[in-house]
Amino acid sequence: MNEPATFVIRRQGTTESYPCQVDWLEESHFLQVEELQAYILDTLPCKDLYFPLTPAEIRNILSGKAGQALGAFVEDQLIAFGAVYFPKDNGDNLGRDIGLPAPELRQVVHLEAFFVHPAYRGNRLQTKMGKLLLQQVLLGKEYRHLCATVMPANVPGIVDKFAQKMKIVALKQKYNNSWRYIFYRDLWTEELFQAWETIPVPSLDLCRQLTLLNQGHQGTGYRKTGTGLEILYSKKSN
Ligand SMILES: CC(C)(COP(=O)(O)OP(=O)(O)OC[C@H]1O[C@@H](n2cnc3c(N)ncnc32)[C@H](O)[C@@H]1OP(=O)(O)O)[C@@H](O)C(=O)NCCC(=O)NCCS
Repeated sequence: MNEPATFVIRRQGTTESYPCQVDWLEESHFLQVEELQAYILDTLPCKDLYFPLTPAEIRNILSGKAGQALGAFVEDQLIAFGAVYFPKDNGDNLGRDIGLPAPELRQVVHLEAFFVHPAYRGNRLQTKMGKLLLQQVLLGKEYRHLCATVMPANVPGIVDKFAQKMKIVALKQKYNNSWRYIFYRDLWTEELFQAWETIPVPSLDLCRQLTLLNQGHQGTGYRKTGTGLEILYSKKSN
């Protein structure tokens, strides 16, 4: 395992800085993770934004068998959680949603779940912890296809996936038939994406995005507007 990190972070509504220790999590952290996730769900303005991990999924990831998890601690209190998940042959492997050939499904890794205590949001912890998780995944050389789902209304989730050099390759109804972008990145090949034109589409305009994705466009970036996000769609030039 690579070395955990220490960050200095701000608490919302204060100017004070706090040292924040990032560590690999184990089964002994189960209750803290469950409690933090329950608090996050309680305080979410829109419950659809985050589809929670089940207790069995949390245990599976913490055991190290099906994934790896990082926790961020301030004064020994867990304030952020992030995980990667190795779906292997399981039915929830997102590689199937994007048409990966069967032999490559075992090389799929999901950026699975992230949540940050509301008091410590605004420090880009999701992106910082995601980068540490991906560094660890790359050391293993076992996983090539990075996938993630994000709800179109989840602005920080979208911003984070583009920061991890991922692209939107599909838009599908997933959990409870709720719409999700499927983000993808080939971890072994840095793709040089040259596009002729870029088409901005509001992230909540699902119909237009489905049309563009069906025509072979991919979501390759975003720009912030006063009211939300526009996704930038482009088609690869030959
Ligand atoms: C998603 C989550 C983990 C992000 O927390 P975080 O790492 O503290 O993220 P930040 O608040 O630092 O925001 C990251 C980026 O999103 C932007 N952002 C956040 N909320 C935003 C909003 N409502 N509108 C526009 N931009 C927003 C920030 O400005 C920042 O962009 P920048 O890097 O260009 O400055 C946190 O919001 C959370 O726990 N949400 C509930 C659970 C969840 O939705 N998990 C993710 C599922 S994909």
